[in-house]
Amino acid sequence: MSEMPQQVALNRIIEGDSFKLIQQVPDKSVNLLITDPPYFLNTATKKDVSAGINGETWDDARILLETDPALKAEYADESTTTDRRLTILSILKQKFFEHFLEVIEPKMADDSAMIVFNRYANVQIMRNWLKKSPKIKDKWIVDSTFEWAKTNPQPTLDPKYWSEYALIATNSFATTQRTIANLAENYVDNTTIDNTFVTTRPKNKSYVYGDNGAKHATPKPFDLWSYLIRRFSNPEDLLLDPFSGSGTTAITATDLGRNFYAFELDEKQFKASSKRLDEFKKNRGKSIFLGLHS
Ligand SMILES: C[S@@+](CC[C@H](N)C(=O)[O-])C[C@H]1O[C@@H](n2cnc3c(N)ncnc32)[C@H](O)[C@@H]1O
Repeated sequence: MSEMPQQVALNRIIEGDSFKLIQQVPDKSVNLLITDPPYFLNTATKKDVSAGINGETWDDARILLETDPALKAEYADESTTTDRRLTILSILKQKFFEHFLEVIEPKMADDSAMIVFNRYANVQIMRNWLKKSPKIKDKWIVDSTFEWAKTNPQPTLDPKYWSEYALIATNSFATTQRTIANLAENYVDNTTIDNTFVTTRPKNKSYVYGDNGAKHATPKPFDLWSYLIRRFSNPEDLLLDPFSGSGTTAITATDLGRNFYAFELDEKQFKASSKRLDEFKKNRGKSIFLGLHS
């Protein structure tokens, strides 16, 4: 007798590799995908010393070499030029984002929306795939790219990364109409300008959010997340964030009465963000610390 596939738990953060866990999410169940996968900003081809943002390895494009033994061997070969190494990483990044959408797409409900933050180039890869993949051609309406403009970008970062971008796509006329109605309802003066949202990046000192010293390099601001969730979903809808990080989606979804699946690979992040979610639930209704803006 074949065993029924195990289904992941709702409304708590689950530790593990999202590409495996997503298989346990029922098909056509998710109303809103809201997430930011690794941006793979770090390619470190010249010095091969530092890895990832603030020493964290998840944003290092070189981890993608593990997914392709032939390209990994070519990358490691001493005669391979820096240009070719960068091309290899570009090929692997493209494969990552296309595979990600391929795995996610069947999980999306018939009347749903996707919001995926990333650097502009990777958003373009996802836009192209959604528009051109023969399997789902004409299914998704890809909105103009959404921009989060930071009032306090990291000054040491290349200015081309001072804003972050998101793919926004909907798969039915009803969803599109609803998001337009919700946009009017949730308009925040001076903050939302069409598809640009201006707000402050959570500050450095508040990266530490766990009593085990856990910190996250790239927590998303709650006001941005709250605006997007209100605009693109309804109360009691099911949200999915396969790259949960510090738990921004889990906490905002709880706050706004949405259900969620949230997955996080890193054990330390998983533990600290689960505790953060528990504390949020315990203190709901009180005047509490919610944001990372303090
Ligand atoms: C850009 S961060 C997400 C930040 C999050 N939006 C927040 O507000 O805190 C990406 C996260 O994805 C996690 N991650 C990377 N690969 C993963 C995978 N295969 N499965 C689950 N989580 C993964 C990383 O550990 C990292 O915490």
